[in-house]
Amino acid sequence: MAEIGAMNGAAGKNAGPAYAITDHTFDVVVVGAGGAGLRATVGCSQAGLRTACISKVFPTRSHTVAAQGGISAALGNMGPDDWRWHMYDTVKGSDWLGDQDSIEYLVRNAPAAVYELEHWGVPFSRTEAGKIYQRPFGGMTTDFGKGIAQRTCAAADRTGHAILHTLYGQALRAHTEFFIEYFAIDLIMHEGRCVGVVCLKMDDGTIHRFRAKLVILATGGYGRAYFSATSAHTCTGDGNAMVLRAGLPLQDMEFVQFHPTGIYGAGCLITEGSRGEGGYLTNSEGERFMERYAPSAKDLASRDVVSRSMTMEIRGGRGVGKLKDHIHLHLEHLDPAILHERLPGISESARIFAGVDVTKEPIPVLPTVHYNMGGIPTNFHGEVLNKVKGDPDSVVPGLMAIGEAACVSVHGANRLGSNSLIDLVVFGRAAGLRAAEVIEKSEKQAELPKDSADLALTRLDHFRYAKGGTLTAELRNQMQRTMQDDCAVFRTGETLAAGSKRIHQVWSGTADLRIEDRSLIWNSDLIETLELDNLIVQAVVTMDSAANRQESRGAHAREDFPNRNDQDWMKHTLSYLDNVKQTVTLDYRPVHAFTMSNDIAYIEPKARVY
Ligand code: FUM
Repeated sequence: MAEIGAMNGAAGKNAGPAYAITDHTFDVVVVGAGGAGLRATVGCSQAGLRTACISKVFPTRSHTVAAQGGISAALGNMGPDDWRWHMYDTVKGSDWLGDQDSIEYLVRNAPAAVYELEHWGVPFSRTEAGKIYQRPFGGMTTDFGKGIAQRTCAAADRTGHAILHTLYGQALRAHTEFFIEYFAIDLIMHEGRCVGVVCLKMDDGTIHRFRAKLVILATGGYGRAYFSATSAHTCTGDGNAMVLRAGLPLQDMEFVQFHPTGIYGAGCLITEGSRGEGGYLTNSEGERFMERYAPSAKDLASRDVVSRSMTMEIRGGRGVGKLKDHIHLHLEHLDPAILHERLPGISESARIFAGVDVTKEPIPVLPTVHYNMGGIPTNFHGEVLNKVKGDPDSVVPGLMAIGEAACVSVHGANRLGSNSLIDLVVFGRAAGLRAAEVIEKSEKQAELPKDSADLALTRLDHFRYAKGGTLTAELRNQMQRTMQDDCAVFRTGETLAAGSKRIHQVWSGTADLRIEDRSLIWNSDLIETLELDNLIVQAVVTMDSAANRQESRGAHAREDFPNRNDQDWMKHTLSYLDNVKQTVTLDYRPVHAFTMSNDIAYIEPKARVY
């Protein structure tokens, strides 16, 4: 059943399926070429480390390209600002689940990271004085909550696009070796250390084994576990799933962010920057209802608050449209010149996906899955953590994670808009710096064990020859509908218990999958099945972690436990998987209730008021 090419360290007799393997050796292998992956790649290459960057899509098609509104940093170009105010907002936005040492690292390094991007060529929008233009974004304040900050640096509403293209150029300039359209199947773990990764080169079907002193996962989020998401179809959290299969935990997976303004029906993002520029939401009575829910911040309250308020209006029968099932976003009162200059991308999206001319009529919008606060636990150097012998901060040798794949945890229970792009570049840079510290360039790498690719190839082979009765698209649809129905903006013990049952059934359904195409070259049936297998384990731990957390915090809104409960639940959830028995085990890590330096005190929990 398996094909044998020029065998090169492939599995031995009876050990695993036989595939020809091409071997590569690098100091560092970065998996993923979005903003975080490329920034880490540039850092490692500049440090003289032999660096490979593997990506399943062409780098400039990574999902960072879709980021619209901007990147936060307390530059103070539009009025006074301070990294301490940015820190306060981020801790408060996280609903006190963020690790405060990591948050301090993020906001203190943010201005330098933005200037670095500027110097590398990002074409930021400009003020009259020629400085980087900054717009207001939800939850970003001055003077510890007293005023509205303009902290989000923007390149019109195509900031991610501008950053991604610039970083790819810098990576090429730094002589990174790219392996493009390579699909990472699994990590190679040996005696508790990560020593490489096994990939399928999608255009010719060859298998590649990368040996590395350090693997950096920058594989993004898993928005596609849901039916309606602003995420690209490629957002399948492949790195997160590899980590689960390696017996390592994911953290805080119950916290899934819904962006308030996905286009109704299509799910595409309408940037929060549109409300930053003066846009507002109304219900069927034409009421600006956010004034009731968040009298001070109004339409610029944090995303969890706005998404819940919209959902409550719809539930209260005040939704718009024939089915009264969505909300209106108004931009038509804004100067068309401003729309043209600062919001050209969403003006085009509204026209294409909603048939709306934003200068004349409101855009129909609905909260849509946008971001995963949970992911692979790391410290602020990007090193992956596991709980070993009671030590919750034990470093997994040879493995780092950054970007949306990671849970560092700066976003805690809810991420503030524009804190994602800054997370990518600050921690991408941090990972490069740490790699340069911990990797001994002259040290020879140990040979990989002969069977090091067996697990990955057994998985590949299993799905390649799957001949059950269920098509991948059918099972994927069941998973996405279950997550959308039972793990939504509002949750109850009842819906989560039913959801857990349903999602575990979907998981067991993977045993009955059928693949029609057995080839290895551009086999989208096979790749989508491997991606579904990655998504379903993340969906399961998301649902089970949500059912377990009996409080409301940030994006996790339990109707049966409406209050935050710091005494029992100010802790991170860790979720482990047994892939054979198909069971989930949950554990906890303490929140870092301390800062990185001594010049700022830990921010004490208090109620969130907007
Ligand atoms: O609304 C937006 O432009 C999204 C930004 C973000 O998620 O950071």
